[in-house]
Amino acid sequence: MLSFKNVSFGYASENKIFDNINVDIDTTVITAVAGRNGTGKTTLTRLIMGLIHPDKGIIELDGQDISNKPPYTLAKNIGYVFQNPDHQLFASTVYEEVAYAPTCLGITEKEKRKSVEQALVDTGLAEKAGMMPQTLSLGDKQRLSIASALAANPEILILDEPTSGQDCRERTILLRLMEKLNKSGIGIILVTHDMDILAEHADKVVVLANKKAAYKGTPRELFINEDKTFDLGLELPESVCMSNELGLDICLTPAELYKKIAIRREANGGK
Ligand SMILES: Nc1ncnc2c1ncn2[C@@H]1O[C@H](COP(=O)(O)OP(=O)(O)O)[C@@H](O)[C@H]1O
Ligand SMILES: [Mg+2]
Repeated sequence: MLSFKNVSFGYASENKIFDNINVDIDTTVITAVAGRNGTGKTTLTRLIMGLIHPDKGIIELDGQDISNKPPYTLAKNIGYVFQNPDHQLFASTVYEEVAYAPTCLGITEKEKRKSVEQALVDTGLAEKAGMMPQTLSLGDKQRLSIASALAANPEILILDEPTSGQDCRERTILLRLMEKLNKSGIGIILVTHDMDILAEHADKVVVLANKKAAYKGTPRELFINEDKTFDLGLELPESVCMSNELGLDICLTPAELYKKIAIRREANGGK
């Protein structure tokens, strides 16, 4: 569990981004962080990573206060994938890029090779190990950042808007990878403004507004309340709009929607 307890933070003291924010993030599931632009989604992830520290309050990971720990001590537990992967890639080959974190963690050469190779296989980059990171596609770069984080065997992986600028195929590959990593035991914190992705993939949602966590709960409970969704500056996912339009119970995914339509058709004698 990752807990923000009465956390306040501002880049400048007169301008708070968070004012007494309280939120518990279950680190075994996929938690989406949403909210209008500028509400502090990236700031929240930077606080978790120890890149910045609370002015007031504490951040706990599994009951341990991590508020003032430097980022290199947290990198072992928490992997971070920046919004723009170019900001994170600096080695001359894909392999070296992934090997960087385990090298810093000071594990044996054999263990290092094993975790780097595993991370490359998990992210589908094994065949590109000798390539220059900068020559990769955006999707491959994004997965390379994930591989670099995975090589340190983190407990939590934070992805900040990982699907922005990606085409449909790359997005699908990334989301499948995210699901697979979560099933293997890694908690995911996914910053996203894409409500279709949030509805389909998040177990829990935190919506930031007015310097606080203005909503904490499941996607279904959020989208059932249309007015609240709009007040928080969010849109309804496509499948929710369609199910509302058709007078069906709320559907979060296209698969759920098709199933409910089929059931209704059957109940109406095939019409
Ligand atoms: N390094 C910084 N210095 C000063 N202000 C910043 C810095 N980074 C972000 N901000 C400001 O903090 C607010 C929250 O930013 P951010 O966390 O990036 O929001 P989001 O990711 O939700 O769009 C914005 O008003 C932004 O302009
Ligand atoms: Mg951001």
